[in-house]
Amino acid sequence: MKMENKLSVGVDIVSIKRIRDIITSSKRDRFLSKIFSSSEIKDALSKNDEAQFFAGRFAAKEAVKKASSTKSLISSNNFKSIEIFNYESGKPGVKAPNCQNIELSISHDGNYAIAFCIRS
Ligand SMILES: CC(C)(COP(=O)(O)OP(=O)(O)OC[C@H]1O[C@@H](n2cnc3c(N)ncnc32)[C@H](O)[C@@H]1OP(=O)(O)O)[C@@H](O)C(=O)NCCC(=O)NCCS
Repeated sequence: MKMENKLSVGVDIVSIKRIRDIITSSKRDRFLSKIFSSSEIKDALSKNDEAQFFAGRFAAKEAVKKASSTKSLISSNNFKSIEIFNYESGKPGVKAPNCQNIELSISHDGNYAIAFCIRS
């Protein structure tokens, strides 16, 4: 079907253990530098649980991609071009090419991190 809605949504859930296994292995540096910007890697330093933090960021990037897929603005495997940051309040925001009007929410509990994105 060709019809496109004005609003797009994206959601993703990530296993924190899956991320913990990678970042405590020899694949750590390659994984982090492929997926996360230097600011995101720096932000992780202030977090109690970096696996939880990176799982939330990973879910957020996937959610942004899903919300953007119909608009073809973000290439399918360029995670680094989607940067997640926090405003002073703690609320998460997104910097990505040609991406305005994006709202994002991230949550973590137990073994999972989840992110939801809405884009107009
Ligand atoms: C913000 C708050 C609701 C987070 O809830 P939580 O159950 O502790 O933690 P969750 O795992 O569900 O959520 C954490 C994520 O919430 C998001 N978050 C933090 N502050 C936020 C805010 N002010 N508005 C929206 N989202 C926020 C962040 O993305 C954070 O993850 P990150 O730091 O890795 O980016 C909680 O810390 C809180 O109640 N803070 C005090 C009141 C407050 O600031 N309320 C915000 C609206 S006024």
